[in-house]
Amino acid sequence: MLLAWRLAVFAAALCPFAWYAWQVYSGNGGPEPGQYLLLNFGVTALILLLVTLSLTPLMKLTRWKGFALVRRQLGLWTFSYAVLHLLCYLLFILGLDFSALGDDLVRRPYIIVGFAALLMLLALAVTSNRYAMKRLGKRWKALHRMVYAALALVLLHFFWVVRADMGEWLNYALVAAFLMALRIPVVSRRLSRVRPRRGVARRG
Ligand code: HEM
Repeated sequence: MLLAWRLAVFAAALCPFAWYAWQVYSGNGGPEPGQYLLLNFGVTALILLLVTLSLTPLMKLTRWKGFALVRRQLGLWTFSYAVLHLLCYLLFILGLDFSALGDDLVRRPYIIVGFAALLMLLALAVTSNRYAMKRLGKRWKALHRMVYAALALVLLHFFWVVRADMGEWLNYALVAAFLMALRIPVVSRRLSRVRPRRGVARRG
């Protein structure tokens, strides 16, 4: 059952990639397929980041360990889509002309913010295994709190891109604010108490 769940999550996370690739292949990627892929991979990475952050509150609320089981997988998917987004930038915007990178960073400083967010996601991805968890001990948890800083940077990056029309951005920012609020210790404790543990319920 849990293996099927993991496989289903894997397949679901692969779907956006397959869909965007199909759209471009069939000529539905618009006049600039490179830009189409860049934007969609970026938005998918952000959505997956938000989904990954919703897993712990969902687990607390339902006590279903399936949510925790796919946390690492979805974190790695988030990173993979962010890398695809970067590759699209290097390939379609920069045309692999790395000498133009300096000028572009001056012209569009939000790219520096995106890089910083990606570096954080990289640090989280490479330390998301049992070995790193053991080696880092208590520091692991502190390091993985960096995910909130990464989320804030991604939202800043996105805001900078779309500041003329903030409607879509606001939706993501509100979801992010809601998920952050759920992590406030007092809220998080209450969330854990929403449904009593089975043992406690039986005693009562
Ligand atoms: C590796 C560094 C990054 C680079 C070079 C980069 C570059 C870009 C560029 C060039 C754009 C499009 C600007 C335009 O409209 O022309 C963009 C938009 C965007 N990026 Fe990034 N980005 C980076 C990191 C990230 C990360 C880590 C995420 C999410 C996890 C992300 C999410 C987004 C989103 C959501 C948009 C807006 C998409 C839209 O307008 O529909 N980016 N980025």
